[in-house]
Amino acid sequence: MASENIPHVAFLGCGSMNEAILAGMLAGGHPKDRITATVRRAERAAELRSRHGVQGLAGSEQEDANRTAAAAADVVIVGVKPVGVKAMLEEIGSALKPGALVISVAAAVTVQMLEAALPEGQPVIRCMPNTPSKLGRGVVSLSPGTSCSQAALDEAERLLASAGTVVQVPEEQVDALSAVSGSGPAYAFYLAEAMAAAGERLGLDPQLSALLARETVAGAGAMLAEPDADAAALRRAVTSPNGTTEAAIAEFDRRGLPVIVADGAAAAAARAAQISAELREG
Ligand SMILES: NC(=O)c1ccc[n+]([C@@H]2O[C@H](COP(=O)([O-])OP(=O)(O)OC[C@H]3O[C@@H](n4cnc5c(N)ncnc54)[C@H](OP(=O)(O)O)[C@@H]3O)[C@@H](O)[C@H]2O)c1
Repeated sequence: MASENIPHVAFLGCGSMNEAILAGMLAGGHPKDRITATVRRAERAAELRSRHGVQGLAGSEQEDANRTAAAAADVVIVGVKPVGVKAMLEEIGSALKPGALVISVAAAVTVQMLEAALPEGQPVIRCMPNTPSKLGRGVVSLSPGTSCSQAALDEAERLLASAGTVVQVPEEQVDALSAVSGSGPAYAFYLAEAMAAAGERLGLDPQLSALLARETVAGAGAMLAEPDADAAALRRAVTSPNGTTEAAIAEFDRRGLPVIVADGAAAAAARAAQISAELREG
């Protein structure tokens, strides 16, 4: 693609989530001179500049950093905390190019809230990514707003494909999706922590146990990433009848681990709905 056809992307609020997407995008070949990132603190802006070579602007040094970045952008990716999204959109609204696509990665901020805070007709997409996007192994969902054309949706999909698997979902499913893939990396890390603690309880050296747990979860994740992998089939393949793994799984089942995970995910989805309600009430 000729460089003038490559969209200029502005990451407004570039903390752990937006930096993960930014890193995935750079690894996918997006030119660094077509990326701007804004934050509040000067140290963080300097960190983004030195780590990624992109233009990093800090609100503490340049009051109109967000508006400057937004004015130059074809695609804006808003990555502030949910409570800050409305103020960010109201700040940048009049600076945006009319057709610029606004993507929000904030949990619980609905398409309706995004559209209400922006000039009428501004195309928006509600997006739910996760942090493995940093390695190009994320899951990114897209739910388009009422003024988002198919071409804009295709553009978002193309840009975000470098962060991982892109899926399109109706907005009413985003809280459920977020409870699986948005929060999900934390569940996998939690499992690794629990496995490391289990090894210690069985007498292993703590460092060795942490290494075993980490590499095992990572290795199992890599097997799951193979085409057509099926979690249940992979588990059955390493669970011999009457063997050691079967003894562990039987104990997990007896103690209701699947129900515990389902209840945890339901709590995440309910919390997202609660945050949406709080944001609506202002
Ligand atoms: N983390 C995840 O796994 C995950 C997954 C899915 C969705 N999300 C969503 O991603 C969003 C960000 O989460 P996060 O975990 O990345 O949070 P975070 O690490 O705290 O990042 C927020 C960033 O926003 C910047 N910021 C705040 N106000 C700003 C303003 N007015 N102008 C410019 N920059 C501003 C902060 O700058 P400073 O660093 O200078 O303070 C910080 O870099 C949230 O809405 C969350 O719901 C996160």
